[in-house]
Amino acid sequence: MKPAEFDRHAASYDGGLDNPIKRMVGSSADQFIAVKARWLLRREPKLKSGGLAVLDYGCGAGDLMRVLAELGARADFSGCDVSSGMLDEAGRRWPAPLGPAPALATQDGTLTPFADRLFDIVTISAVLHHVPVDERQAIYRELGRVLKPGGRIYVFEHNPRNPLVRYVIARTPIDENAILLDAREVRHGLLDAARYDLETDYLMFMPPGIAVLRPIDRTLAWLPLGAQYVVAARKSA
Ligand SMILES: C[S@@+](CC[C@H](N)C(=O)[O-])C[C@H]1O[C@@H](n2cnc3c(N)ncnc32)[C@H](O)[C@@H]1O
Repeated sequence: MKPAEFDRHAASYDGGLDNPIKRMVGSSADQFIAVKARWLLRREPKLKSGGLAVLDYGCGAGDLMRVLAELGARADFSGCDVSSGMLDEAGRRWPAPLGPAPALATQDGTLTPFADRLFDIVTISAVLHHVPVDERQAIYRELGRVLKPGGRIYVFEHNPRNPLVRYVIARTPIDENAILLDAREVRHGLLDAARYDLETDYLMFMPPGIAVLRPIDRTLAWLPLGAQYVVAARKSA
């Protein structure tokens, strides 16, 4: 397998925080990830009771799983990625007090080495904009393949309708090959692969580190201008 694009970013990966504007809005990459983690914990409260099997597809350095666990999630986490360098980093970053590290699998192209209908929840965060447009449909199929009937997929992406997002992405080294996609493209891609009930929320209207502003974010979730969005897809049982 040829080295993946992110192998060269792995050792210093900080979620694009080398961009000065992103650093002005949030002081650590974890603050940005925590917005998604908190949204997931509100949406899936059983993540805290244990027993759910969760795959983070394109998990990179494992930051979403780690922040979820730090906020109280007790799921059976697995992660996969095309970059073995990023997966090495995920293993290194997992704090021992959180218990056993997630099961991590390097994948070849879009295919993950996991059986059909294995996971209750599949997350894919900040991955699709790194995938060439003509390869995205294979990923939507793969997400549905590994999901149990009744399971949920959560696709988190940068929102190209937010002008500040476009400005930042165009100036961030890890995003040099990024092709942004809007929530409509994600919804169509998922529905072309399988039957789902779909919902979309917009996230990150306010700087992620300022806790008192979080209620504002929640009231604006319908407005398609947040810096991020999440498409939630429930597979038919
Ligand atoms: C910006 S990082 C995001 C990492 C992680 N999901 C997060 O939110 O912190 C993008 C990740 O997507 C991975 N990736 C890119 N193309 C992929 C593909 N076709 N399948 C799986 N992972 C892919 C990269 O190797 C990288 O680790």
